[in-house]
Amino acid sequence: MHVLTVLDHPDPNSFSAALAQSFVEGCKIAGHSTECADLHAEGFDPRWTLADAKGTPQADIIAEQDRIARADAICFLFPLFWWGMPAMSKGWLERVWAWKWAYDQLDDAEKSLQRPRSGLLLVPAGAREDEVVQNGYRAALDRIWLDGTFGYFGFAPRRLELLCGAEGSAKRREGLLTRAHELGRTLPTPAHKS
Ligand SMILES: Cc1cc2nc3c(=O)[nH]c(=O)nc-3n(C[C@H](O)[C@H](O)[C@H](O)COP(=O)(O)O)c2cc1C
Repeated sequence: MHVLTVLDHPDPNSFSAALAQSFVEGCKIAGHSTECADLHAEGFDPRWTLADAKGTPQADIIAEQDRIARADAICFLFPLFWWGMPAMSKGWLERVWAWKWAYDQLDDAEKSLQRPRSGLLLVPAGAREDEVVQNGYRAALDRIWLDGTFGYFGFAPRRLELLCGAEGSAKRREGLLTRAHELGRTLPTPAHKS
């Protein structure tokens, strides 16, 4: 498969960047070709503009859509910010996965204009896993992201992997890097939809 990793972090030496690298190494071991959209390094502008509102084709968006068109699987790697995604990732989704290109209706989250792609959200989080589950945040994120967003974009199968305790000990971080590697190595193929 061809795997696109979309990385959202301004620091190339961040833990998020290390996770992306580990994930990509896992993909390569599985025999996949890889490509990385490093949104900060590439200077992507996440602001939804008048041109976006009017559906006017723009070069930066067409380039991102071409990148998506090449991919059989997409991994989003961003840190959890205020129980959501950072503004850069949010803007990338809003601008690139546009109405009439990614989807054309809001009645059925399982219907997309895009072919099925294997989708993974790889999200480091500061909180502990038990806090995240007990306080209902995990269920809320599953609902909003897996049901409410990524279905419309054709992701099947899709999975949210919260890498909790991302600011923890070196041992904890090592375990999370190993997990990212394993997820790259075992990435499922896209589901066939009738
Ligand atoms: C603005 C901001 C908001 C954050 N919000 C949350 C949050 O809601 N839940 C959480 O578990 N961690 C939160 N964190 C912690 C980050 O998820 C954590 O620092 C990050 O995953 C570590 O990855 P990094 O070292 O690559 O930045 C937040 C961090 C920042 C800077």
